[in-house]
Amino acid sequence: MCGIVGYIGDKNCVPILIEGLKRLEYRGYDSAGLGLLYNGNASAIKSKGKVSLLEDKIEGLNIKSSLGIGHTRWATHGEPSEINAHPHGNDSGSMFIIHNGIIENYAVIKKRLQKLGYVFKSDTDSEVLVHLIDDFHKKGNSLFHSTRLALSQVDGTYGIAVISKTEPDKIIVAKNGSPLVIGIGDDENFIASDVNALIAHTSKIVYLEDGEIAEVYKDSFMAKTITDEDILKEIVQVEMDLDEISKSGYQHFMIKEIMEQTESVTNSMRGRLLVEEGLAKLGGLKGFEDQIAKSNRIIIVACGTSWHAGLVAEYMFEQFAEIPVEVEYASEFRYRNPVILPNDTMIFISQSGETADTLAALKEAKRRGALCLGVCNAVGSSIARESHTGVYIHAGPEIGVASTKAFTSQLVVLALITMLIARKRHMSLADGKSIISEMATLPAKIERILKLNDHIEKIAEDFVNAKNFLYLGRGYNFPVALEGALKLKEISYIHAEGYPAAEMKHGPIALIDENMPAVFISPKDSVYEKVISNIEEVKARKGRIIAVASENDDKIDSLVDYTIKIPDTIRMLMPILTVIPLQLLAYHIAVKKGLNVDQPRNLAKSVTVE
Ligand code: G6P
Repeated sequence: MCGIVGYIGDKNCVPILIEGLKRLEYRGYDSAGLGLLYNGNASAIKSKGKVSLLEDKIEGLNIKSSLGIGHTRWATHGEPSEINAHPHGNDSGSMFIIHNGIIENYAVIKKRLQKLGYVFKSDTDSEVLVHLIDDFHKKGNSLFHSTRLALSQVDGTYGIAVISKTEPDKIIVAKNGSPLVIGIGDDENFIASDVNALIAHTSKIVYLEDGEIAEVYKDSFMAKTITDEDILKEIVQVEMDLDEISKSGYQHFMIKEIMEQTESVTNSMRGRLLVEEGLAKLGGLKGFEDQIAKSNRIIIVACGTSWHAGLVAEYMFEQFAEIPVEVEYASEFRYRNPVILPNDTMIFISQSGETADTLAALKEAKRRGALCLGVCNAVGSSIARESHTGVYIHAGPEIGVASTKAFTSQLVVLALITMLIARKRHMSLADGKSIISEMATLPAKIERILKLNDHIEKIAEDFVNAKNFLYLGRGYNFPVALEGALKLKEISYIHAEGYPAAEMKHGPIALIDENMPAVFISPKDSVYEKVISNIEEVKARKGRIIAVASENDDKIDSLVDYTIKIPDTIRMLMPILTVIPLQLLAYHIAVKKGLNVDQPRNLAKSVTVE
């Protein structure tokens, strides 16, 4: 949720930290702050609101420092304000910490520290950490061991960075449940919650694991476990292009990422389509293919847009692999008593690979003996590393908070997994060949849909003042209806509901009048005629209708108010195409309402707290 960045070296760290925070701002954006050591002093500069406000504040101060930490916050405990912004300092102002996560037992620790005379200034759970570390430090422990001892008393999740003028040559970092990486430079080192913040400076990364703590100097680092055991950490070379995390001339990351889908879908399939064999090649699943194909059941666990991808996969697996599937919200799965049977395979879908609920569900499933497969975008992320096996979607970094290109790439990879299993079970070579060949045509079809951008922008003009929206689809396009509604809600703040089209008459139809727009996802597939009947039902009640329809469908124009005509494909792959007009529609409505589509209110890209 929150973003963390830090620098130690010979350069002035202020611009480096501000730039890093801007790259991380998609993770949280209600307040920001820097903690700096300079001229023998320690200080924190904080500001409510966006990083640019912090930048303005700092410019006037003309501070130069070669060791600092920065934080951008997404409030959990305590309202967004300057006081609650990080860093939090100890009573004497010599030590500062930044924290991402939640300290669950903070109230008990706070009471104890208050009795010892520590004064709390903020309403955050994080502030207990600085006083607790300070307490150990005052007793003669080094900064490293004070942090380690403090963290061993804490329940909850953290990615944390600590600096102190008493030991001005180091940053202490630790991780439990929230991501934390060290970036290795030449005579300078970096720390961050996300590789994106560092990639402009180094591609050599050390990933901390849960329960690990490190002491980072400008030219070296040392890591241990929280329980004080020595560990050796590997330095990993990360491949990421700076261009991938900049807007490249687009107004927003979201539209850039929507427009990138020809390429991202191509990348998700690259080297994985074996047309002649009618097969998918997924190196990440090597050694596990037979076990997965023999599964008696597949349980898919995810949150948000990734959960919608899981719903589409349910249709895919059941139709072609003929395996029963359950799709679960991670937050529900982890707190039930889920029944895991022998020969169950579990699939965890996550763009960021860091979503706290999905990660916790994965750990629980592993504990119960399920085979766990990760479908992630962020390479090296916690879910990717924790899973027994997995497939990267290779969509490239996604910065816009509303997920777009990750969704279509997730669907591509889930279709490939379906093919792998189906061909090992019942699917014929001929059927395999025809589906894999069809997959190869997707990028060209996506390209054609993206050309409808101006047409969709015009449609959006007529819906800027809508208060509610209904999204309706059937079969494979029911989850697309949910996803279309979610996109609109997330960025335009218009209330929207997704529904299976036929279910409409069991409730939502009561809402329909001339003020209720309905978006139908109605390509010419096997349920087309049935969806047309649902369109008639809405039309009879004067609802305004937008239809995402097949290019060759001439009948639909006379039934609806607006059409968005797209190329056809087989049913299984249709969601990869039908969702794109809905992403564009939500984007243009939100932009026309003057909203910040990349950083919608109250949302965060990577939800690393429960
Ligand atoms: C947040 C994001 C959504 C995303 C969901 C799951 O709510 O705003 O866009 O779909 O988390 O994230 P994940 O990274 O696990 O796919």
